[in-house]
Amino acid sequence: MSQNPIIDVLMQRVSLRKYAERSISQEHKEMILNAAMRAPTAGNMMMYSVIVIENQDTKDTLSKTCDNQPFIAEAPLIMIFAADLQRWYDYFELSSVGEYCKKRGLEFTGPSVAELFLGCSDALIAAQNAVIAAESLGIGSCYIGDIMENYEIHRDLLALPPYVFPIAMLCLGYYPKGKRLQPKERFDTKYIVSEERYQRLEPVDLKAMFAQRESRVMPGNPYEAENFGQFMYARKLGTDFAREMSRSIKKAMEGWYV
Ligand SMILES: Cc1cc2nc3c(=O)[nH]c(=O)nc-3n(C[C@H](O)[C@H](O)[C@H](O)COP(=O)(O)O)c2cc1C
Repeated sequence: MSQNPIIDVLMQRVSLRKYAERSISQEHKEMILNAAMRAPTAGNMMMYSVIVIENQDTKDTLSKTCDNQPFIAEAPLIMIFAADLQRWYDYFELSSVGEYCKKRGLEFTGPSVAELFLGCSDALIAAQNAVIAAESLGIGSCYIGDIMENYEIHRDLLALPPYVFPIAMLCLGYYPKGKRLQPKERFDTKYIVSEERYQRLEPVDLKAMFAQRESRVMPGNPYEAENFGQFMYARKLGTDFAREMSRSIKKAMEGWYV
């Protein structure tokens, strides 16, 4: 304990995948959403939207479309954070910004990938505010990155217009009674933080950085991996769901100006 309640919440947070069987109170839901909306946002433009989901059918679908993770269906509350340029560009149209630009010799391209990156930044920062606010209320959460997969299915399921891209999903629920999960280990700060200039790690540093995780790769693992690098590639980046994510993002990006 640090004597600082905010730091304590940050240090004790874990991703929670098993929730108490009760719905989140309206008061807590509003507190979480209000805290999310206080997040910093580029140009104070709030280029994001939050979709709150409690409908069981929708949760059941998401638990399948987000790489078959059954605990998603059991989360009392789901929030999807999406980069949203649609709202601004609808407003620009209403404000005749196209004509205005033509008159003034300015380029008017439509939503760009650069704006999408800003929208994603906004959405993720707001999501993390929600995580910490929830945590402080005894509500655990887990991010689901797989919401970026199956773009067409999620677009139809959530009625997303063309310039809204779901970048993160949160499953939320009260902590169940009993012992709390221990926070997971992290890499040592010295491998992650450098001073003044980026420091690319030498092989000897990489070996030291991964030494502890290396010991977890058991002989006879299902991927026939001989080390942690092979194991993680086989488990995460080299999988069908990773390929589906790339395909889905490419599809979602079709209308954006590069
Ligand atoms: C962008 C992002 C995507 C994630 N996607 C998933 C996911 O699809 N399923 C899951 O169970 N956990 C997911 N997680 C949670 C991570 O697995 C978790 O944060 C990590 O293992 C570290 O554990 P901790 O959060 O308890 O410290 C995701 C986390 C982030 C930040």
